Amino acid sequence: MKSIAYEMELSSTGDNRGSLVAIEPDRAIPFDIARVYYVFDTVTGVCRGQHAHKTCKQILICVSGCCDVICEDSKQTFTCKLNSPTKALYLEGLVWHSMKNFSPGAVLVVLADHVYDERDYIRNYDEFRHLINSAECI
Ligand code: TYD
Repeated sequence: MKSIAYEMELSSTGDNRGSLVAIEPDRAIPFDIARVYYVFDTVTGVCRGQHAHKTCKQILICVSGCCDVICEDSKQTFTCKLNSPTKALYLEGLVWHSMKNFSPGAVLVVLADHVYDERDYIRNYDEFRHLINSAECI
């Protein structure tokens, strides 16, 4: 199980009418998209996420408004500020992530390489720490 997290810049095209981002596998997106979901109407002050995945790869984009994603993997903890429709966060496997500080009206779109499967979730933080410590020993 790998733990990889990094920010990506999505290329956009635009003219005097506005801007457009196109998302296609094999270009900016390093996996075949099996699922798209989005989070909206988020209540002020809530924290979402608070889990890691065993294998699911995801790309998070705040297409409207902004939010912060706090990521923790085996090596680091960092905060990604998703504050532009051209900024994305790639999360692969064992990365504990929490989303907070949603602006009013924020819409967080997530692309995933797997359909929803609760068995892929690690929702217990102690279990997550145990898994990344074990993975580091391999
Ligand atoms: P949850 O994992 O708590 O959302 P977040 O990571 O944003 O905090 O999911 C909320 C509910 O939605 C939970 O009952 C599972 C369900 N769900 C699906 O049915 N399909 C999905 O693709 C996702 C991501 C969640």
